[in-house]
Amino acid sequence: MSSGPEPVKITFVPGFTVARSRRSLTKALHEIREKGLTVALVPTMGYLHEGHLSLVDVARRHADVVALSIFVNPLQFGEGEDLDRYPRDVERDVKLAMDRGVDLVFAPPREEMYPGGEPVVTVDPGALAERLCGKYRPGHFHGVVTVVAKLFGLVRPDVAVFGRKDYQQAVLIRRMVRDLNLPVEIQVGPLVREPDGLAMSSRNAYLSDEEREEAVGLFQALEAADAAFRAGEGSPEVLLDRARSVLASHPLVQLQYLELVDAETLEPLAEAREGAVLAAAAHLGSTRIIDNVILGAVGTDPRTRPDPEASEQGGGT
Ligand code: PAJ
Repeated sequence: MSSGPEPVKITFVPGFTVARSRRSLTKALHEIREKGLTVALVPTMGYLHEGHLSLVDVARRHADVVALSIFVNPLQFGEGEDLDRYPRDVERDVKLAMDRGVDLVFAPPREEMYPGGEPVVTVDPGALAERLCGKYRPGHFHGVVTVVAKLFGLVRPDVAVFGRKDYQQAVLIRRMVRDLNLPVEIQVGPLVREPDGLAMSSRNAYLSDEEREEAVGLFQALEAADAAFRAGEGSPEVLLDRARSVLASHPLVQLQYLELVDAETLEPLAEAREGAVLAAAAHLGSTRIIDNVILGAVGTDPRTRPDPEASEQGGGT
């Protein structure tokens, strides 16, 4: 456990609050609620990029006040994963959030989120957490849904916004909200990519120049499979082979998994169909990246085509 919140130099800006403790969060929320305003929460682990900030825009469309949390949650990192080196720059994040129109940043130190150390009572994400990334990151989604449930308890948002980049995470959170009757509406925002197509991620900061250049191969592989699907190919094995063949020319991209799954159950499909999710994870050196495309989504370029998950129908508890 660290010794307390690192200082963050913020000049006072009317209408903008940075809460470092549960107490100051509660105080700020009390004032917001007294005015009868609704709150949308964007949970993050910080080191903000355009992917995160695009969720702020989604949040803004769904509530009066936008709150953004920054917390690198130890509970969702496995043994030997990158908890200690996860990139952090709260000061920069606060500025980016403020410039994007966030009203309230909640950036607690570890002791504020887990005052008694690890929680005793936690949320069990069930079988969905054992698929895709869950197979390779045991306990990861248990940590994710537990901290998200805690954030919901602390902020009590009307709406919470997650990104399609972490597809399985979004499915699990929707499922938690539905199964536990949590009074929050979930919105899922589109996947934001770098100009060459690489999915934006805080972890991209780990990539060497050479790795960064090759990393886009993962997206190109998914895109090639999607193009084959749109050209009429229906066999998952053929589509997956198509993707693998693209990766053959990106030897630094070491595939961890590549699966075509049902958008809700995340179960592998025997037959490709529109709306199915092609999801992958890969390592470049010690950096792990993930990506996904929705098969046959409208438009031709997955970087710009409208995202079915992003539409307002994505809501509902
Ligand atoms: P983090 O990786 O910081 O991501 C925070 C939110 O931003 C997640 O909902 C994620 O899906 C979204 N996001 C990240 N990259 C994105 C991109 N390129 N396009 C669109 N959205 C993107 O996900 C987590 O943190 C944590 O697991 C958290 C939910 C905060 C719980 O600790």
